This record gives sequence, C-alpha cells and structure tokens, in this order.
Amino acid sequence: MSSVPRLEDLGDLAGKSVLLRADFNVPVVDGEITDDLRIRAALPTIRWLIGQGASVTACTHLGRPKGQADLAHSVDPVRDRLRELVPGVELLENLRFDPRETANDGSFVEELVEGHDAFVNDAFGASHRAHASIVGPPRFLPSAAGRLLHREVEVLSGLRTNPRRPFVAVMGGSKVSDKLAVIEALLESVDSLIVGGGMCFTFLAAKGHSVGASLCEDDMVDTCARLLDGPKTIHLPYDITALGPGGKLMDPAAGGEVRQMGTNLPDGWIGVDIGPGSAAAFGDVIHEAGTVLWNGPMGVFEDPRFGGGTGAVAQAMADTKAFTVVGGGDSAAAAKLFGVEHEMDHVSTGGGASLALIEQGDLVGLKALRGAPSV
Ligand code: 3PG
Repeated sequence: MSSVPRLEDLGDLAGKSVLLRADFNVPVVDGEITDDLRIRAALPTIRWLIGQGASVTACTHLGRPKGQADLAHSVDPVRDRLRELVPGVELLENLRFDPRETANDGSFVEELVEGHDAFVNDAFGASHRAHASIVGPPRFLPSAAGRLLHREVEVLSGLRTNPRRPFVAVMGGSKVSDKLAVIEALLESVDSLIVGGGMCFTFLAAKGHSVGASLCEDDMVDTCARLLDGPKTIHLPYDITALGPGGKLMDPAAGGEVRQMGTNLPDGWIGVDIGPGSAAAFGDVIHEAGTVLWNGPMGVFEDPRFGGGTGAVAQAMADTKAFTVVGGGDSAAAAKLFGVEHEMDHVSTGGGASLALIEQGDLVGLKALRGAPSV
C-alpha cells in the first residue's frame, strides 16, 4: 500500500485554518462520557497543529442518529471534554445530524471545507466509511493523515506485510459470518489462528461436536469445515463453560447451573465461555508468538461468571513478549476491563475499520488522502 500524506506534508500552517475529521464516537451514558480514549488519542495531532500556529475546527459523528438532530447524540459532552483537554478547538455538531453526511453529498462537503485551508483526517475508526467528511474534503483541500491514523495504518498494515513470527491471531465474538472475510485474509498471513467466543461453536459443529443450545450458524458449518481443512493450524477450545437450562446471561439470580464441559454439550446447554483448560492452552500459544492480534472476546465477559476465558487471554497478551495488537470494539473494552490495556503494544481505536484494513489492505479514507491536491 502506498503511503498517505503526513502532517509535515501540509507545509507552513501558521495562521491557517485546518478542518480536522476526528472519530470522537465515544460511549455516552446519561450525558457522561464513560471512555474518552478516542478523544485523548487525537490529542497529539491537535497539539501539533496548534503548535504550528493553525486554528483547528474539529468534526465527528457520534452514534447513528438518523440524519436529523437528536439530543441523545449531541456532541456537547465531547465538546466539554475536548475543551478541558485542549482549549481553543472548535467542534462542529454531530455530522450525522445531516443526512448528506452518510449520503456523501457534494453540497455538504462544500459547506464543510468552506473557509479552511487544509484537511486532516485522524478518524481511523470511520475511514472505512465513504461518507462526505471522510472522502470529500481531500477533493478540495491539501490533506494529510493525522498521527493516530498514521500509527493505526502503520501497525495494522504491518501485520499483513511483515509480522514478527510466529504470527497468531485470536478471534472471538459471536458470528463467523461477521468475520469470515477477515478470517480468510488472516489465514493468508498468520502461522496459526485461535478461535473462541460464540463463533467457536460453528467450528466445533463442523468437527461433528454437538453444541447444545449454543450459538451456531448452520449455513456456515461447511465453510468452517473448509477452513479447518486448510494448511494453517486453527486452535479450537477443548473445554467449554456452559450455562444450563433455565439460566440467563447477566442474571445469576435466575438460576441455571454453570458447568465445565468438554466439547459435546447436552441439549439445552449454552456454551458461554471457553473452559479453563483451553484458556491455559491458548495462553501457551500466545506466549510462544512473535506477534499476536486479538479481535473478539472468548465468552460473554460482561457477565462475571463467563469472563474467565477472555480474562485469561487478556493476561496472556499482557505477559507475552510478542508484539501485541488489540482490535477495537469489544476486545479493547475487554483489555480495559481486565486492566491490561496499557500493557498492549497497540490498542486500535477502530473496530470495523481495523477489520476492513486487515481484510482489504486499504480504506476509502486513505485512498482519498492520496488523491488530495498538494500544497
Ligand atoms: C466505530 O465506532 O466503529 C466508528 O466510530 C464508526 O462508527 P459507525 O460504525 O457508526 O460508522
């Protein structure tokens, strides 16, 4: 992948006005930001721009409002936090309050770039979206990738091209179908793949195991069988933590027995985490790796009864000498919950974007930056 322009390529910014597309799509509960990682992650770029004498107007989406103003998705809490962290930066209202943002409407782009001299994209998490604020401004303004976007691309593209070996990917989450394309792409470059989470039951079904009432995508069983037949080792759990009939996730008071089992579950039992033996075995593979990419939890870690597998993988990631990369979304939340986020070499700020970049090797937002006019 050819490189994208960097901040230094924007030339002299003293007295210039810069439009900054950030991804400040942070969790907000009752008007309070519960995790400001994405705001803090953009600070190096903002501080660099201000240090060059530029004035900065930032813009972001927040949540998925339906193309109209919606108080629940106002960026006010973000604006307040941004002001505390770095005063003097203007923040536009949620871009997705305007339907022209997701429609990539040229008239919206023209309004966004009006009065600005340069554009910086630091919104890695949204750079797989062909939305107006991502792909539009580079058609009009000299443009560059911010520090965060640049680092994300460097790390995640490096996994495809030059990983320290053995390269191990740890995949979890509920559905194989959601991650099939990225699993297939990863199988080209990894030395082995660890599969946990809800998706492991479709793989186990492909090996002929009975999965009880666990999540299983029947139409993906043949695909999983094909992947298991391929040349790369796919590590599956050999023990499972299961919840018996009548039990409810996130509700221990509802009853239902929790039991460690092998990989054949009786009718009515739901597999909700990898078992302790598998967690230890996966930890050994992570320990021996040169590079580890982790995307997706091993079980329903939000329920403390079923967080053991995810916690063990998080700890193994913290303990290994391998170069460790955590995909965004649930795995980043899990790394935080288990207190190991600062021990990772890279925690991506983008969920869908990191998968898209690993899968496709490029993003629409990066292509747009490459086509921007030079200074
Ligand atoms: C994310 O949270 O992954 C990014 O901010 C993109 O959000 P979106 O999936 O709503 O486009």
